[in-house]
Amino acid sequence: MSNTIDNLLHEARRFAPSEQFAANAVATADLYERASADRLGFWADQARELLHWHTPFTSTLDWSNPPFATWFDDGALNVAYNCLDRHVLAGNGDRVAIHWEGEPGDTRTITYAELTAEVKKAANLLTALGVRAGDRVAIYLPMIPEAVIAMLAVARLGAVHSVVFGGFSAESLRSRIDDAEAKLVITADGGWRKGRVFPLKDAVDAALQGGDTTVEHVLVVKRGENEVAWTEGRDLWWHDEIALVDADHVAAAFPAENPLFILYTSGTTGKPKGILHTSGGYLTQAAFTHKNVFDLRPESDVYWCSADVGWITGHTYVVYGPLANGATQVLYEGTPETPHPGRWWELIEKYKVSIFYTAPTAIRSFMKLGRQHPQKFDLSSLRVLGSVGEPINPEAWMWYREVIGGGETPIVDTWWQTETGAIMVSALPGVTTLKPGSAQVPLPGISIDILDEAGVPVGKDQGGLLVVTEPWPSMLRGIWGDPERFKETYWSKFGDKYFAGDGARYDKDGEIWLLGRVDDVMNVSGHRLSTAEIESALVAHPLTAEAAVVGAADETTGQAVVAFVIIKQNQLEYAESIDVAAELRKHVSEQIGAIARPREIFIVNELPKTRSGKIMRRLLRDVAEGREVGDTTTLADTAVMSSIQSKLS
Ligand code: WTA
Repeated sequence: MSNTIDNLLHEARRFAPSEQFAANAVATADLYERASADRLGFWADQARELLHWHTPFTSTLDWSNPPFATWFDDGALNVAYNCLDRHVLAGNGDRVAIHWEGEPGDTRTITYAELTAEVKKAANLLTALGVRAGDRVAIYLPMIPEAVIAMLAVARLGAVHSVVFGGFSAESLRSRIDDAEAKLVITADGGWRKGRVFPLKDAVDAALQGGDTTVEHVLVVKRGENEVAWTEGRDLWWHDEIALVDADHVAAAFPAENPLFILYTSGTTGKPKGILHTSGGYLTQAAFTHKNVFDLRPESDVYWCSADVGWITGHTYVVYGPLANGATQVLYEGTPETPHPGRWWELIEKYKVSIFYTAPTAIRSFMKLGRQHPQKFDLSSLRVLGSVGEPINPEAWMWYREVIGGGETPIVDTWWQTETGAIMVSALPGVTTLKPGSAQVPLPGISIDILDEAGVPVGKDQGGLLVVTEPWPSMLRGIWGDPERFKETYWSKFGDKYFAGDGARYDKDGEIWLLGRVDDVMNVSGHRLSTAEIESALVAHPLTAEAAVVGAADETTGQAVVAFVIIKQNQLEYAESIDVAAELRKHVSEQIGAIARPREIFIVNELPKTRSGKIMRRLLRDVAEGREVGDTTTLADTAVMSSIQSKLS
């Protein structure tokens, strides 16, 4: 690791904004000045400029009861109204909100007026199904317009959505439904992925099997046309029901701190955390960052963020940021390589995408496929590129700029988390001289520092732990139903400074380089996975006695899941007769989802443990990455590692 860091910090390439870009940029250097002169006043100005408030706020931040913050507390607004109605009222109803493209090539073009009309109907439908402010609605949909419509309809009613990524299993869906006590599930029969329909309704049925659930209804969008089972009285077709409701719906105002959504993310224990976001502060920072980091001109830009709405990036930069800003965007259902490896580039050419936001793992897999694919398409409409999800290595950054960005576009490397709600650290494209591989500087109004273990700020050219030192508008407001875990996870290490769980380093100029997680959270293809969660899935299998999971470096996905498993004594004979690794990989898919499936599973006799019984993952990571095994002196039994290695070779 330290070798890589040294290499990174020697990265000397620098790219200043072109004069023309800088002269026309949406965000200028005076934002930093305004924010540092009066941080809270700056955010209050942003909230007033970027959003419509039904009731204006007078108080900006209340931090009298840390770590529980409120922002714009006495104001009231409607999040969906801000994303829809007000654009129509301002005369922009004919602007395209969504250029949707299905994987098989079918398309829908939806203007702001049409999207507003759809959301009004959906809000009436949800009301008819008993959804009221504060109720939770689970959304388990493919990347179709109804995913956006459903989220906004829930928001319009002041209810709370919990979007569950369609790649998660029935088990994962169930635990999220139960934790949030959702009363309604919105799903589809199926969606298109890699040239095939993957069923979603089946997983909902499996999740709800046996009853004993808070769910009263399942609303099903027809998309895949695949056969589905039907539970009379519980299941309803979206298209049938939506035809019956009124078209008119007046958006009521809700307090700024009204919960907007819960989004589950992996933590260091087996149980995912329900990260809670509220309305006014979240939408302010979503809109501010989307406008300034991406240099957005809503009248002329075509924006595309490739994230699924099941992740925070999809929440903030597919739904809330772009729609609050009245942007035109592309929404694509499928995978990048279907039906051909140039599909994304084809879409950029077709819709003349000017701002493109994706993850380093995608860029690295395109690099592997070769530049001949993007080169078949005209990508000259692109003018800003973004990256999110994990550190982007300088080689991938350079390829992104040269091959996709025509050697000219600025690249913003944006650091943030599910918990931060919106971008926190990033260059501003018309202001910052770019450094490949570094997320660089805190945004205006955001206070970041790097501390050592004792909580002392480190200096230039030094590394430590990334913290946010002042509350920010889109910060998480808690973990659903678990205030103690909220305090313990983020606020117990450094008092009232938010501990992000990432290692970071200042370079000689005092700019920030992210170095990856410092806890037992892995980052696979930009998705957070918990070692503990996968371990508990593995030991839930009847063959498994014990399991240890590590994130091993992977050229394409950043990290990959590698598992070490001990088989139960009485199962050894049976295990000999089957493909154990395949069986366990399938099991993890069923328990959590395909994204958590280990790349490799090693069957071993023992695991390396300290005298106090803690698994030494560091040594397993050495094995998984094919390195010489490091210091083993703290092992209870120093022979374990040679026993493991002899099993593998
Ligand atoms: C990592 C995704 C380096 C980091 C928005 C963080 C990054 C975790 C970057 C959050 C970046 C995200 N550079 N690392 N630009 N962006 N990360 O909650 O480890 O899915 O803690 O949010 O991803 O992942 P999450």
